[in-house]
Amino acid sequence: MCGIVGYVGPKKAQEVLLEGLKRLEYRGYDSAGIVTVSSGITQLRAKGKVAELEQKITDDNTNDGVGIGHTRWATHGEPSERNAHPHHVGDVYLVHNGIIENYKELKQQLAEYEFVSDTDTEVLAALIDSLYKREDVKLENAVTQALKLVEGTYGIAALSPKEPHKVVVARKGSPLIVGVGDGETLVASDAAALIAHTDNAIYLKDGELAVCTAGNVEVMNLDEQPVSAIVEKIETNLEAIEKQGYDHFLIKEIMEQPDTLRSTLSGRVVKEQGLLRLGGLNMNEEELRAVKNIFIVACGTASYAGQLASYYIEQFCDDVTIRNEVASELRYRSFNVPENSIAIFVSQSGETADTRACLQEMKSRGVRCLGIVNAVGSTIAREVDGGVYVHAGPEISVASTKAFTSQVSALVLVGLVMAQAKGVDQELVNQYIDEFDALPDELEKTLARHEEFQAIAKKYERYDNAIYMGRDTMFPVALEGALKLKETSYIHTEGQAAGELKHGSIALVDDRFFEVAFIDEHRLFEKTMSNVIEVNARGGHVLAITNSPRDIDAETVVRVESQLQLLTPLVLNVVSQLFAYYIAVARGNDVDQPRNLAKSVTVE
Ligand code: M6R
Repeated sequence: MCGIVGYVGPKKAQEVLLEGLKRLEYRGYDSAGIVTVSSGITQLRAKGKVAELEQKITDDNTNDGVGIGHTRWATHGEPSERNAHPHHVGDVYLVHNGIIENYKELKQQLAEYEFVSDTDTEVLAALIDSLYKREDVKLENAVTQALKLVEGTYGIAALSPKEPHKVVVARKGSPLIVGVGDGETLVASDAAALIAHTDNAIYLKDGELAVCTAGNVEVMNLDEQPVSAIVEKIETNLEAIEKQGYDHFLIKEIMEQPDTLRSTLSGRVVKEQGLLRLGGLNMNEEELRAVKNIFIVACGTASYAGQLASYYIEQFCDDVTIRNEVASELRYRSFNVPENSIAIFVSQSGETADTRACLQEMKSRGVRCLGIVNAVGSTIAREVDGGVYVHAGPEISVASTKAFTSQVSALVLVGLVMAQAKGVDQELVNQYIDEFDALPDELEKTLARHEEFQAIAKKYERYDNAIYMGRDTMFPVALEGALKLKETSYIHTEGQAAGELKHGSIALVDDRFFEVAFIDEHRLFEKTMSNVIEVNARGGHVLAITNSPRDIDAETVVRVESQLQLLTPLVLNVVSQLFAYYIAVARGNDVDQPRNLAKSVTVE
C-alpha cells in the first residue's frame, strides 16, 4: 500500500527520494509525489507511476537536501494528482499512510481552511498547520499536539519551509523506520527504501515521533518526553530486493523457493540428531504440553498456509483443536477463547491491519500470541510473545509465493515441537524430518521443469473462468492456487473442496471453464478422481496436477515424481504457481503489481 520516504543530508534529496519511491513501487500504488526544500520549496505530484512523476522534474530544485515523498494507494478519493501526497496546507507539507478516522469531525473544526483534495491527510495537514501558527511552536510540537486529537492509524512525515533543516515523522499502526546514516538521516515505511544508504535503523514504535536532521535523530513520545531509541541492523541487502536477471520478481521468488525453504529450516531441523529447535517460541515443554486450542489467524495466502498446516498439526497433536480464522472476520466477531489456547498470527509482511487488530484483541484477553512472520522487525513480529521468523527473504511481488512454502513449513515445525512435548512417537517426527530434508531438492527438480509448465499454461491462457479443486491437504492448495491465478491473470477462479463441487459449483462447468484438480496418490486418490470424472462427464477441461503414477482420465496431466508421502502439497503447489505466472505473462498483465492490489494491506 502507500509508501513513505524522506531524506535530510548532503545528497540531492530529489534523487534519493525518487530512488526510494522506486524501491517501494512493489507495494502497489496509484499516484506519487515529493516535496524538497532548501531556500525555496518544490512540490511535484503525479497520478500513475513514479516514472510519470520523474517526467515533471526540472533542474531548479536539484540541490535541495531535505525532502519527503510518497506513493499513494487510494482510500479517500480517486487516484489523481489533486489527491496525491504530499499535501500542502499553510506552512506544512505532509505525507501519510493509514486512515484518520475522525477526519470529518476535524474538518468541521478547521473551517478557516479551504480543502482542495478528498483526503483525510489534507485535514491532518491543516490541523498541524493550525497548531503550528501558535507562538513558539516548533514543527514537532504541532505534530504531537495534532496527533493527540487524531483517531485512526498513521505513519507520517512532515516538513516545513519555516524549519527547512528537519523532517518530523511519527507512527501509530503503520510502520516508520528511520535510517541513521553518516551525516544523513533517511526515513521510510519499508526498509527496502533505506538499504542502498544505510543498514542502521531505528524502528519507531506506536506513539513515537522522531525529529530527523542531517545525521541526528531525536525520538520522543506524544507527551514530548525523550525516548531512548535502539539502532538495529537491517537484515537484508540490495541483492535480495533486485530481480537478478529474472523478468519479474514473481518468477524470481517462485524459483528461489528451494533456497528460501532451506533458510527456513536451517538450524531448526537437525536430521542427524532427529532434533527440532525453535528457540523463538519462548514456551517451555510444560507450556507446550498444556496447549489444547490453537487459533491460526491470517489473511489471504497466509491464511491458506494456516489451513494447510492445520491438516498436519491436528494429526500429530490429537488433543488439540485448531481454529483457522480469517482476520478480517474474526476481529468483528464475538468469540470465546477456551482455556489453554494460544493464537498464531501468520503474516509475510508483519503489517497486515486485520491480522494486527486480532493480535491486539488476543493480547488484551491475555492469550499467548505467536507470530509466523517473514519481515524482520515488522510490527507483528515485535508485538507477539514469541514465534518463528520464516527467513524467506524480502518478497517483492504482490502475489505471495515463497512465503507460503515457508509459512506452512514453519507452522508444521511449531506443531511438531508441540507434539514432541506431548510425547508423540519419535518415529513420526523422524518421518517429517526426512521429508523436510528432501523437500528443497524436490522443489528444485519440479521447478526445473518450468518450460514444460509454460507450454501447458499456453493451452489455458484464453479461458475466462476456472475452478481449482482438491481434497484434504490438497484443498488449501486449491484455494491458494485459485488465489494465485485470479490475482495475477484476472481470470475468474474459484477454489473448491472437490467434494463440494456437486453441492453447487458443478453447475458452472461448461466450455468456458477449465478445472485444475490436485490429486494426491496417498490421500483420497479415488475420491478426488470421482470428482474429476464427474467434471469430465459434463464436458469439463481438466488439468490434473498429481504425484500419482496411475492412469488419470483428464485433458492434461502434470505428473510430479515425488518420494514424499506427507509434504507433496508443497511440491504440487509450485507447479500451480508457475502455471499462474505463465498465464499472467501471456495475458500481458503487470504480474508483479496486479491492478488494484497492494503488497501489504495496512488499512482494513
Ligand atoms: O503480509 P501478509 O502475509 O499478512 O499478507 C496477507 C495477504 O494480504 C496476502 O497473502 C495476499 O493475499 C497476497 N496478495 C496473496 O498473494
